[in-house]
Amino acid sequence: MLGLAAFVIYATVRSYARDHYWVADYHYLTPFYSPCLSTACVEGSSHFGTPFGDLPAILPLGFVVLPFLLGFRLTCYYYRKAYYRAVWFSPPACAVAEPHAKYTGETKLPLIIQNAHRYFFYVAVVVSVINTYDAAVAFHGADGGFGFGLGNIVLWVNVILLWAYTLSCHSCRHIAGGRLKHFSAHPVRYWFWTQVSKLNTRHMALAWTTLGTLVLTDFYVMLVASEKISDLRFIN
Ligand code: FES
Repeated sequence: MLGLAAFVIYATVRSYARDHYWVADYHYLTPFYSPCLSTACVEGSSHFGTPFGDLPAILPLGFVVLPFLLGFRLTCYYYRKAYYRAVWFSPPACAVAEPHAKYTGETKLPLIIQNAHRYFFYVAVVVSVINTYDAAVAFHGADGGFGFGLGNIVLWVNVILLWAYTLSCHSCRHIAGGRLKHFSAHPVRYWFWTQVSKLNTRHMALAWTTLGTLVLTDFYVMLVASEKISDLRFIN
């Protein structure tokens, strides 16, 4: 629970910082600012155009994606387990009575929002595609040609693990193979469900690992962008 809280605080602080999120020489963009769709984004960082004008300080530059990222994490079955026990006390622990007068499960506000997890999953897939695109265009050298540095490895490790976390989602597993009466009649969905099921057994580990890689990726881009460190370059 503390880890999730630390992540939310870090992501919020960094999202409002509005600086050191883009490395112009190597085209590294931190995931917390992607997609950057405002005219306030630094030149080059808006891979998908700038349909929004300047934004008031109350809105972070990654405002399009952050609520969904946060929504996806907070409604994740794994994190639910953590904060139901630690914060919501529903239940506090096995065989321990709840402090709530009546148990309503996830049928009333605020917990009924948990049912939106499947829709957050759909957006998370789109975000993973965008992050993959960001990582692909980051093979950029300082002279404008192909380049490859430690930052590319950091970005790609993060993207691959984000895909693994997203595809290991319980909603994804249900979308892949749920409500099928006969697997034999749907061999492609069955194959996909089998792969997703294997990943699903590691969902907890992926949930924690990706919190770490998201922070590390952002932190690395911030250090390079602010010229606190230089990117280790292998090519150009
Ligand atoms: Fe964790 Fe869907 S259950 S992301």
